[in-house]
Amino acid sequence: MSRKEPLRTVKGMRDILPPESVLWNRIEMASREVFAAYNYQEIRTPLVEPTELFARGVGADTDIVTKEMYTFDDRDGQSLTLRPEATASVVRSYIEHRMWEQPGVKKLYYIGPMFRRERPQKGRYRQFYQIGAEAVGSDSPAVDAELLEMLVELLGRVGLTGSILFLNSVGCANCRPKYLEVLREELGKVRGQLCVDCQRRSETNPLRVLDCKVPEDQPIIDKLPTILDLLCTECREHFDKLQSYLRDRKIPFTVRPRLVRGLDYYTRTTFEIVHGALGAQDSLLGGGRYDGLSEMLGGPAAPGIGFSIGEDRFALALSQLAESELSATQLFVIWLGEEAYRHAAELARELRKRDVAVELLADSVKLKKALELASRLGIRHALLIGEQELAERKYVLRDMTQGSQKTVTREELFEEFAGKAAASHAAPVPAEKGAETR
Ligand code: HAM
Repeated sequence: MSRKEPLRTVKGMRDILPPESVLWNRIEMASREVFAAYNYQEIRTPLVEPTELFARGVGADTDIVTKEMYTFDDRDGQSLTLRPEATASVVRSYIEHRMWEQPGVKKLYYIGPMFRRERPQKGRYRQFYQIGAEAVGSDSPAVDAELLEMLVELLGRVGLTGSILFLNSVGCANCRPKYLEVLREELGKVRGQLCVDCQRRSETNPLRVLDCKVPEDQPIIDKLPTILDLLCTECREHFDKLQSYLRDRKIPFTVRPRLVRGLDYYTRTTFEIVHGALGAQDSLLGGGRYDGLSEMLGGPAAPGIGFSIGEDRFALALSQLAESELSATQLFVIWLGEEAYRHAAELARELRKRDVAVELLADSVKLKKALELASRLGIRHALLIGEQELAERKYVLRDMTQGSQKTVTREELFEEFAGKAAASHAAPVPAEKGAETR
């Protein structure tokens, strides 16, 4: 029989394997802790939504909707789409469940996969993951400042340094049309000098010209008027207040008047955090206000703000952490002989009950081979249990990275790995054959 071709993942989609998944868990755990401290609660929305949600919410002319969505007809003919982002879904849910009737600002967070059919490259995938938060029900710049503070806390908690916060205001339904008029007029004068994409964008979506990455276009774009010159009084005050609240909190930021994002729902505050370790796809996260989105989706007035962190990129930026730090397993328990195996199994179970991550040697092998395996597995400590150890009611604890070892009693072992409280609960050493002969 001929061998079958092995199957592979779909282009742009991938498996998140250990030890990287350990880092992902760490990121998600830290996010949940920080979200809880700021009183954000988890929302889980479906991965599949009616296509119209994104056409209306994200914008029918955006790259996401025109080129990147995974859209298909269901068997009953309804057009469905794998979510390319979650803000539209959260606001859909806010409306569907009449959350505006609940007191205060509705603060929700989500963690999960999104789908965009982009050209895959480092940090850009067709199935990628976002960690996001949305605060719906207030247009106060205090909410914006608190959200950005929460982000800074989150990045700090997982140990990410060296990121830069770019901030802008893209105005509102009052002032943006005027800006667009001025921008169109100015673009009309330089259109012929711009790249082909920008020539098209200057007609269809002139704001997107500001986001162009083509080097030759940059000096021309730099001379275009910015939205900050044309903000209405309310938007100007909102933006000034946010900046002063950020200064109070000692959160560094850079105002970038050209910062526009690829989603049509943004109003007023928009922001992005970039990180140098990410290369060409340096945008770690993006977000902003969407004060008109609820109405666009048929709901009541419900101003909101949120962000989404690209989790793949977050993990990438953090991947300089030593691989040994990423190994979740703390202790490799090595036994020599059947009697020692029985003891080791009981000991491993007690340690695991106390949340110590233990790998128990599966097969009877020589000590040298077992130690080799421990180091290949990247486990920091090995515990050796042989006949002599059983007889003396002590174990040999070896630090695999330093190559040093010491003898520990069961109580000392529990104290070192399971904390002091756990040590007092440690089960007594069971009477072993070897021990009786002492
Ligand atoms: P976005 O700017 O489209 O915003 O995406 C946010 C982040 O998701 C990006 O900064 C990037 O880290 C990550 N990302 C986007 N596309 C990909 C991809 N193909 N591969 C890997 N990572 C990617 C939003 O999605 C909005 N929902 C953000 C928001 C929330 N605005 C208000 N609330």
